[in-house]
Amino acid sequence: MAREEPEPTCFGQPLLVRADVDSTNLDLARRLREQRLPSGTVLRALRQTHGRGTAGRPWYSDSELGLWFSLLLRPPLRVRPLSFLPAIAAVDLLRDDLAVPAHLKWPNDILVEERKLGGILVESIPAGVRSSGDAAREAWIVGVGLNVDQMTLPEPIAATATSLRLITGRTHDCDALLRVLLQRMQRLWDAGIDLVQAWPARSQQLGRQVDVRIGSGLVAGTAESLTSEGHLVLRLPDGRRQTVISPSQLG
Ligand code: BTN
Repeated sequence: MAREEPEPTCFGQPLLVRADVDSTNLDLARRLREQRLPSGTVLRALRQTHGRGTAGRPWYSDSELGLWFSLLLRPPLRVRPLSFLPAIAAVDLLRDDLAVPAHLKWPNDILVEERKLGGILVESIPAGVRSSGDAAREAWIVGVGLNVDQMTLPEPIAATATSLRLITGRTHDCDALLRVLLQRMQRLWDAGIDLVQAWPARSQQLGRQVDVRIGSGLVAGTAESLTSEGHLVLRLPDGRRQTVISPSQLG
């Protein structure tokens, strides 16, 4: 019997725009419980009242001056880990289209001059548990946040974050940025690019001394390489190797 091919995923189809939500990741997950949404659905919000960052941290997005959106993806996944998809597309867009010297901090922080410009939070929606005990995934929600037109940032992140406006000295159109970012993500997806191989050229970390957050602590070491799943291999000061897995990568 011929195998049924999945529908091609078309990023941003449909594109849902809301003025205010708690979090686009949460709102998309709620909608998914109520209706069948196609892979490629994007939900963008002008403001998030409870934007969520990695490791349970808040993501400051209660302002229409940034780009906040979530993309729904269903299996089969064409690229892995999923969090590298927007991370790599965003760095390429910033470097090639806007001449902004962006780079990635493992796993997916988007930095410019060591300040955080954007971040990614991937969450999975379980479809149930198979008899083997493996959790099946119905979908993944890829949340992307980019600081765009802020002139000032909230006090808790004022010293560590930045915005496109602060870097370039001019304003940027969030609609256009979203369109171009989705196009770049689509191209990487359609080509089935090896994101793990593509990652080092967008980062400055391999071969350097890094501090990596593991749970509530920090581990220092030399960032040696990535595993084929995109996990970070650290060389510790005592010479041992440690592989660090980030829950925010998924996929
Ligand atoms: C990080 O801590 O670096 C991840 C930040 C992810 C923020 C985005 S904004 C859109 C989406 N909705 C959320 O609540 N979080 C993600």
